[in-house]
Amino acid sequence: MRIDVRYYSKGGGTKKLAEAIAKAVNAECKTVDQPLEKYADVVFLGASVYGGKPDPAVVKFIADNARNIGKIVVFGSACTGKSTFPAIKSAAAAQAVKTAEVFFQCKGEWLFFNKGRPNDQDCADAADFAKKQIKILGVT
Ligand SMILES: Cc1cc2nc3c(=O)[nH]c(=O)nc-3n(C[C@H](O)[C@H](O)[C@H](O)COP(=O)(O)O)c2cc1C
Repeated sequence: MRIDVRYYSKGGGTKKLAEAIAKAVNAECKTVDQPLEKYADVVFLGASVYGGKPDPAVVKFIADNARNIGKIVVFGSACTGKSTFPAIKSAAAAQAVKTAEVFFQCKGEWLFFNKGRPNDQDCADAADFAKKQIKILGVT
């Protein structure tokens, strides 16, 4: 069973979460411009909110790598706490790719809001979430 982590990060917050998740589940951690080389049962996909939606690079990653993705588990951050989950789920469904019904979301720093977020606690929570998900999904 294979697990991969891919993310898109403008400011480094999603990257921090991605690295914490990758460490927790012992997976490689790369940006979405790097294709999946092999089939992955689970892809933890880091997609934070920019202008109310995920960056187009994340949607492109799903389309370009659809046949190598078993299931997507979304994680990310946003100033408001809103998640890209619905948009990612819909983009994945358009490619016949499954998305886990649960996702990880935390506050993200933007302008003068949420200074330092995602912080160490957010990263620890993301790592716990990922460990639980791979148990639930039966990936060991
Ligand atoms: C260009 C830009 C647009 C953003 N638009 C939104 C938005 O519409 N809603 C929101 O809640 N946060 C918004 N944010 C805040 C980001 O979601 C937040 O900073 C997040 O943690 C970014 O992750 P990153 O550091 O990995 O890029 C925006 C941030 C940037 C840089």
